[in-house]
This record gives sequence, structure tokens and C-alpha cells, in this order.
Amino acid sequence: MHPRSSLPVLLLLHLLLSCTASALPSTASFLSQYPHFGSFARYLAETGLADSLIDRSNLTILAVDNAVISRLSGESRDVVRRVLSMHLVAGYYDLPKLRQLPNGRATLSTLAQENGNPRGSIEVAILRNGRVAFGSNRDVMLLKSVASHPHGISLLQTSDLIINPQTQGDGNCLPLCPSAKSISKKSEVLPIDTVFKLPSPLPTWPAGGGFGSGIIDFGGLLVYQTSSFSKVWAVYEGGPDNLGATFLEPSSLPEGYFMFGSYAQPNNRPLSGWLLVGKDQTNDISNGTSKKPVDYSLIWSSNSSNIKQNGSGYIWLPIPPDGYKAVGQVVTTSPEKPSLDKVRCVRSDLTDQCETETWIWGPTGNTFGVYSSRPSNRSIGALAVSAGTFIAQNGQPSSPPLSCLRNAKYNISTMPNQSQIEALINAYSPIVYFHPDEEYLPSSVDWFFTNGGLLYTKGQETNPVPVEATGSNLPQGGLNDGAYWLDLPLDGATKDRVKKGYLQSAQAYMHVKPVLGATFTDIAIWLFYPFNGPARAKVKLINLKLGRIGQHVGDWEHVTLRISNFNGQLWNVYFSEHNAGIWVGASELEFQNANKFVVYASLHGHAAYMKPGMFLQGSDGVGMRNDCAKSNMFLDTGGNYSLIAAEHLGSSAIPALPWLNYCREWGPRVDYDAAEEMQNMAKALPGKLKTAFVNAITSLPVEVLKEEGPTGPKMKPSWNGDEA
Ligand SMILES: *[C@@H]1O[C@H](CO)[C@@H](O)[C@H](O)[C@H]1NC(C)=O
Ligand SMILES: *[C@@H]1O[C@H](CO)[C@@H](O)[C@H](O)[C@H]1NC(C)=O
Ligand SMILES: *[C@@H]1O[C@H](CO)[C@@H](O)[C@H](O)[C@H]1NC(C)=O
Ligand SMILES: *[C@@H]1O[C@H](CO)[C@@H](O)[C@H](O)[C@H]1NC(C)=O
Ligand SMILES: *[C@@H]1O[C@H](CO)[C@@H](O)[C@H](O)[C@H]1NC(C)=O
Ligand SMILES: *[C@@H]1O[C@H](CO)[C@@H](O)[C@H](O)[C@H]1NC(C)=O
Ligand SMILES: *[C@@H]1O[C@H](CO)[C@@H](O)[C@H](O)[C@H]1NC(C)=O
Ligand SMILES: *[C@@H]1O[C@H](CO)[C@@H](O)[C@H](O)[C@H]1NC(C)=O
Repeated sequence: MHPRSSLPVLLLLHLLLSCTASALPSTASFLSQYPHFGSFARYLAETGLADSLIDRSNLTILAVDNAVISRLSGESRDVVRRVLSMHLVAGYYDLPKLRQLPNGRATLSTLAQENGNPRGSIEVAILRNGRVAFGSNRDVMLLKSVASHPHGISLLQTSDLIINPQTQGDGNCLPLCPSAKSISKKSEVLPIDTVFKLPSPLPTWPAGGGFGSGIIDFGGLLVYQTSSFSKVWAVYEGGPDNLGATFLEPSSLPEGYFMFGSYAQPNNRPLSGWLLVGKDQTNDISNGTSKKPVDYSLIWSSNSSNIKQNGSGYIWLPIPPDGYKAVGQVVTTSPEKPSLDKVRCVRSDLTDQCETETWIWGPTGNTFGVYSSRPSNRSIGALAVSAGTFIAQNGQPSSPPLSCLRNAKYNISTMPNQSQIEALINAYSPIVYFHPDEEYLPSSVDWFFTNGGLLYTKGQETNPVPVEATGSNLPQGGLNDGAYWLDLPLDGATKDRVKKGYLQSAQAYMHVKPVLGATFTDIAIWLFYPFNGPARAKVKLINLKLGRIGQHVGDWEHVTLRISNFNGQLWNVYFSEHNAGIWVGASELEFQNANKFVVYASLHGHAAYMKPGMFLQGSDGVGMRNDCAKSNMFLDTGGNYSLIAAEHLGSSAIPALPWLNYCREWGPRVDYDAAEEMQNMAKALPGKLKTAFVNAITSLPVEVLKEEGPTGPKMKPSWNGDEA
């Protein structure tokens, strides 16, 4: 996004000064003394607090009021960026204070510099390496805490604009982001006020087995997945994007079913989620699969805090009878304990260990937090199940107060059979877009082999052999011991042609697997690229091609669809991004053509992103670029796909592919000195950027630089385990 046009910015500063520091007066007098931003900037100038703030060479105050906006809009992008990278926030935040944030994160209120009124918010998180990151993408770093006033006001300078059009926690980017309007209208319409629905109704899945039948039997405990909720309590600040969160419970339950606990979701996205509800089928009073709690304990209540909320919220933990466990918590709006009939606890043998997943909500400056839950054991075929309930807790207890469910019966017939898998792929297969400048496209594996892919054997490097179309002459099984590897053809012209791939031949390779106690199906969709192009770096405003760094032969990339076995609905998608990746909710996807969605493959590196743009891997505006954009080069993964594995269908259902059982690398190890290469690159940079560049690049994980050819899908941890 380019923030050049329409700058309804009240107060921007671009000033430069150098003097000696002095103390700020109290916040109140400070604000009354400097009622508008121009004065604020001048104030900083006078006190020298803005020393080295931006650029010593320019002492001009760029924008004071609307009259100056046109002037700013004529400025270079760089100037606008630096101006908007200053954030005035409520609270005293110097570096040590930021580093000690409870839970390592907070949503800070930003203030209008003209009058100190609350204006928006900015998310801050402490990364594992101690760096202070901003924005919901956590890709913008703290440059410095310019000034922190003990009476509660700080000026923070970030390494770049914080732009995430999906969200609002963007500090000064606020007036520039299209979605930012929703913040000023916070009390009117929140994203969560919209109920997310897939663009098209779900098709009728082919009949057969237990897939899509609505109910799964965990062993005397029937379980149903519901997505129709009614609101119980909402809070309008704190949490992601400082938009608060909403707590809900099922609006109706099928006959005989009960809830395990309430549902909670941040307000910053459309209502989109589910809860499992259960029914005890045993008629066993003493040892049934579920029982009422014996009591509740109050975990937290909002009644003494002055946060913006609708009524007061009370969060209760059910106290289970002996031999049973709580798998959810209950939210009410009154201080009276909920009825014991409100929820059920579950017999211990139908529960499994649970852990917190993502942050849903928490008041600023408090160790209390609400998180989504997931089972600890998420191996393929593990029995543990997410109940969809949240975990509210104070601080980080050694074990969470709740359990997850366990599908003790584990009837694999809840998984889709082959015709159901085909129907799911027809419904959801994504369209992968390649960057307009992409030179290295995917191909089918067969195409790579039949067009000259070579198998090398250690010790016989001078005698590589061509690989058969199906890979039947590849060594099978074993370890990735470096005894064999694949490479491009030797002949220069053929090599260059094969490097470029062949989109028309490309096939999506799909792996179907049971997750979360077979209550969900994961479909991992793999693409093969003969060549991964050179990485490109961004060093502040300078772009650099990284020569051989990041290049490698043989590149496997994937996205994974997570689909409910209760009803066949797509809930989440995992985008693999080099060594890491993210799970994204269906409500955040870009859909195209009914329920099919869009994946962006980054230029040269082919990492998967959910939206176009430039994603920087690194910090402080220095790192590896991942550029994503649509072009007329794309692959409809449902068009010509191949099911490579679906273990639950039985060993004979899918023919074994020799190349899938090839466990060594798909490319040779590189024979150059990456460190030396980097020093050569760095030579082109101005002095102080050299070190920043070398530090940023060397701190990238080895997997990103991929100095070794990668292994195939079956060797990745996600083959037998969860994605993240
Ligand atoms: C200072 O900023 C103003 C406004 O952007 C610009 O016209 C001027 O050239 C700058 N001066 C220097 C020395 O960079
Ligand atoms: C899926 O299951 C249904 C019902 O058992 C059966 O009719 C259908 O043939 C199966 N499809 C495949 C491809 O196995
Ligand atoms: C598994 O589920 C299928 C389909 O719902 C059912 O026909 C079969 O009896 C179940 N198997 C067991 C062991 O309960
Ligand atoms: C209750 O049933 C479970 C599962 O069948 C069993 O493991 C447990 O021992 C039973 N408890 C009692 C008190 O009978
Ligand atoms: C607040 O709660 C009441 C009752 O619980 C409800 O009628 C009202 O619509 C809620 N207000 C908002 C803004 O959600
Ligand atoms: C707040 O909740 C506590 C705990 O239930 C209760 O004791 C107290 O009376 C409540 N305060 C108000 C003002 O409702
Ligand atoms: C996770 O579940 C799998 C499959 O049931 C099991 O083999 C494995 O031992 C479990 N792992 C842990 C750590 O409990
Ligand atoms: C699908 O891809 C395979 C492998 O490249 C190819 O042999 C086949 O002709 C393709 N089918 C269609 C319909 O494009």
C-alpha cells in the first residue's frame, strides 16, 4: 500500500534537531501547553528529545494540519514513511518496560498528537530474541523509544510503517489504511458483527461412511459441531487490534445435547468458529461419559474494571466430580454462579492434554488472558480433539485448567473416502498465482525426470544417471545421508530450460490425513518446482539480488486445508512460508470462483502467502523479500492433481509412487561460500547498512537460505504431524 494519496492526517512530524535532552513536564500541562501537533514537534525540537529522530539534515516540520497535507503528499514515500513511523502512545514505555510486558505483548493506545485524545492502537510484542515488534504481523521493529514521560506518554519510533490492511492496530498508519475507518466506528459496526459464510453453499457430499454425517461417536459420547451462537458478553477494547472480544454460546442444542463451555473470538474478524457439544449415550448414572460439575470457581470478572464493555463479564471454571474433567469454561454477565446444569464435564478416559494456541483477548497491562485451545498431541492419527472452547487463565500456569476431548472410539470411517475426497478437492482446491516476474515455474515430477533430471551417487559424481519417469530407479527408503542427490541436466541449454519449469505439466500432489482424533481432515497440497531462484534482500530502501544465496535445485512447497469431518466445511488453511508458516481462518481467505481460494507463490522462493504484497523476513527493514502478486501465470490445483497418499483408505487404494519414497535431497548441496558471497553483496551497500545486512541475512534460518537441496514431502515433519 502506498500512503501517498488522501492523507487525512492531523499530525505528522518530520523534524530534526540536535540538542540536549531535558525532562518533560506533566502530561496534562504538556498537552495543554502544546495543543496541536506543530507545537508538539517544536517542543521536541526545543527539548532535543527528537535528537536523531529522523534525519539530522532537515529541520522542517512537515505537517501540522490539513493545510500541510498536500505538502506531505508530494513528499517521497521515504519521507512519508519516516513521518508515519512515529507513534505517540499512552503510558510510559521505555525499552526495559516494553521488554517486561506481561505475556510479552500488549495493545497500546495511540494518542492524537494534537490533543492527546485516544486515537487508535498499536500492537506490540516481544519476540524470542528480545526485539520489540509492532503490528499484527510483527514485522516492524522498534527503532527507539524516543521519549517516555513518567506520567504516561511515550513517543516510539518504529522501523517502518505498520501496515496490515486486515487489521486496525496500526498506530499512525491508521488514517491511511482503508480498514481504519472501522475503528472510529467501533461502537457501530465491528467485524465480528458479520457472520462469516463461505461464498457458496456447501455441496451435498457423496454419501458413504461417517464423513459429513453431522455426529461423531467418541465412545458413548456423541459429539456434534455447532456454529450458531448467541452473544453472552462483549468487551470493546484489548485483544488483537484493541477491538476487544465477544463471548458466545450455542444458540440452540440438538435434543439431549449439552455444551462443554462457551466460545470466544476476537472482534477483529467476522464471527467464524465452532464448538463441539455432546450427548451422553450410556444411561449410566454412576459412570456415564459426562457429568454435571459439582461447583464453579470464578476465574476472572470485569466488574471492577472500567474497560468498554456491554455489561460485566464473569468467567467460570466448572469443578468436575472425581474421575471427570472440565473441557470448557462458562461466561455469564452476573456475579451469581451459573446453574450446575449449564455444562457437562467429561469422563477422564475421553479427555486428553490441552494447550493454549492463539491469543483471543486480555486487558492491557494484566497477566490475565483468554486463548484458543488445542490438543498437545496433534500427531496424525492421535486421538486428542479440540472442543472449540477457550482457555482463560492468569499468567502461564504449568498446566492449563482445562482438558481437550479424546475420540476413544476413533472410527476412521469419519474420514472422507475417495469419492468424498474428490468432491472436497472440487469444492476447495486453491488457485496458485505466480509473480509477474517469476522465471522459475513448477512442473510435474515426471516432467522434471523425463526432461533430464539426474540421479547422482556419492563417489560416482562423474556418472549421474537419468531418472525414470515415475522415479522407479531412485533409491527407496533409507535416511537422508547424502549418499544420493538429484540435479538438473548437465547440458547448458537444457539445464536453463528445465530450471524454468513447465507450468502446463504442473500437478498438485495431495496428501489426505486424519487430524484431531479424525474429527478433521487435512489435505496437504504440494507443488514441485525444478528450481528455487535467488533470494532478494531489502536493506532499508535498497533492494539487492542475493546472487547464489537462496538458490537451489528441487523445491517442494505446500498449503494445507483443514476440513471438518462433521460437515465437510473448510475451516483453516496453512500457508507454508520457508521454514515456518501460518494457519489462517477461512474468513480471512481471498476467494475466487465459489469456495476456491487464492494462494500467492512468492517470487523465486515460492513460499505461500494469503495476499499480495511484499513480506519481509528479517527485521528493522532489513531482510529477505518475499514478493507476491497476481499475474496471468497460475495453477488451478484442482485441475490436474494426483492423490499421493491417504493412509486411511488402506494400503492398496493409492498406487505407491517411487519418487515419494525417495528420501534423499532433490538437489545438490551448494559448493560456494555463502558468507563470502554475502560479504561481496555487502560491498555494494553504504557503510552502516553493511553490518545490518550481514546480520539480517545470517540470522535467517538455514532452511530459508536453503544451502542444501530440500527433501521431498514425506520427509517433512508435517507428513506425520501437525503443521505448526
Ligand atoms: C527538508 O525538507 C523539505 C521538505 O520536505 C525539503 O524541501 C528540503 O529540501 C529538505 N532539506 C534538506 C536539506 O534535505
Ligand atoms: C464411498 O463410500 C460409499 C458408501 O460406502 C460408496 O458407495 C462409494 O463407492 C465409496 N467411494 C469410493 C471411491 O470408495
Ligand atoms: C464406524 O462407522 C461406520 C459408519 O458410520 C459404521 O457403519 C461402523 O459400524 C462403525 N464401526 C464401528 C466399529 O463402530
Ligand atoms: C468408568 O468407565 C471407564 C471407561 O470404561 C473405566 O475406565 C473406569 O474404570 C470406570 N470407572 C468406574 C468407577 O467404574
Ligand atoms: C448489550 O447487551 C444487551 C443485552 O445483553 C443487548 O440487548 C445489546 O444489544 C448489547 N449491546 C451491544 C452494543 O451489543
Ligand atoms: C464483582 O464480582 C464479585 C465476585 O462475584 C462480587 O463479589 C462483587 O460484588 C461484584 N461487584 C460488583 C460491583 O458487582
Ligand atoms: C500421540 O498420539 C499418537 C497416536 O495415538 C501416539 O502414538 C503417541 O504416542 C502420542 N504422543 C504423545 C506424546 O502422547
Ligand atoms: C495431468 O498431468 C499429467 C502429468 O504431467 C499429464 O500426464 C496429464 O496429461 C495431465 N492431464 C491433463 C488432463 O492435463
